[in-house]
Amino acid sequence: MTVYLRNAWYAAFWDADIPADKPVARTILNEPLVFFRKADGSVAAMTDRCPHRFAMLSMGQVKEGDRIACPYHGLEFGADGRCVHNPHGKGAIPEAARVRAYPVVQKHSVLWIWMGDREPDPARIPDYSCFDRAQPVQVSKRDYLRMNASCDLVMNNLLDTSHTSYLHNGILGGTDTVVAETRIEEKDGNVLIGRVSQDSAIPSMYRDLTPPEVQRTTKWNLIRWSVPSAILIQGGVGGPGGDPSQGWGYDGVHLLTPETDKTMHYHFAAVRWNLITDDVAENERIRDHISKMRRFAFAEQDAPVIEAQQRAMEAAGRPLQPVMLTVDAGMVRCRRLLERLIQEEQAATDTLNTQAPTQTLKPETTSC
Ligand code: FES
Ligand SMILES: [Fe+2]
Repeated sequence: MTVYLRNAWYAAFWDADIPADKPVARTILNEPLVFFRKADGSVAAMTDRCPHRFAMLSMGQVKEGDRIACPYHGLEFGADGRCVHNPHGKGAIPEAARVRAYPVVQKHSVLWIWMGDREPDPARIPDYSCFDRAQPVQVSKRDYLRMNASCDLVMNNLLDTSHTSYLHNGILGGTDTVVAETRIEEKDGNVLIGRVSQDSAIPSMYRDLTPPEVQRTTKWNLIRWSVPSAILIQGGVGGPGGDPSQGWGYDGVHLLTPETDKTMHYHFAAVRWNLITDDVAENERIRDHISKMRRFAFAEQDAPVIEAQQRAMEAAGRPLQPVMLTVDAGMVRCRRLLERLIQEEQAATDTLNTQAPTQTLKPETTSC
């Protein structure tokens, strides 16, 4: 099984995806979880497996008092995962009648989950304040794809935008963007990967965003990768010297979360800047066009190739060593940083386990 960084924030859902009155199931880092909304609007998350006879709590009901009731025999659990009501016998609650709860924070319209054992630090949630600053007309659909591929493969795809010249030819890149100046740096714990092509035709995704008199110009992708797998890609065209603030494009939000070792959750959206018109209807049309085109690019162009890549790697039946190209340099930098953090986390866990006194475990019974 893949070892993941656990003391980190993962995007679990768009905030709007959890209704007020129904639990929602989602597996993250190989762990089946149930999410439900509390009375104050915040969201609870816990293991989606009742400790009695292991029914899925997500098939139960959200109850008053921030509780979830198991559908099978009615045990009720609070948001902290402890059983708070046993409708059977004298109502005694066995000590072991609890499930593990996980902290969830709503920020930038995303629900972030922390699945590690250290104190969660909301200040480490990656900055997607672009959502908070934007008018609704600037924000494309907050979209979602579940991919039959590991989170790693999708991350590699997004950290190397040279593929836009081939896989998204005409939409996000083209022959003019094969050659690009690339720069990579680490800053504030993030890895920044810049890719700028000069004198490029304007890919169709950006045509409606750009004044009609602008024809051949700079084309750029400025990537910010944040631990463990949250990516922001400023993609666009124009601006003197390729300065994005003077050009036209959008903040491409790409939030990647492992579901299992072979599947992943992909949340994406785009936040546009430097609108070229005040016409509300025209801006809405452009917003909807961007939503549609991006979904097409990811679901119809990226996903088939990445999912086939996953199948090809599995079919090999042995670990494969990829041939590396210059375009892989940014991805390698991110992966090294992530692997170091995972190793440090594992070493800390091993040390704790070594120091823990040996205990004789008594069998615990759970009954309702
Ligand atoms: S399986 Fe949940 S109460 Fe029995
Ligand atoms: Fe792509």
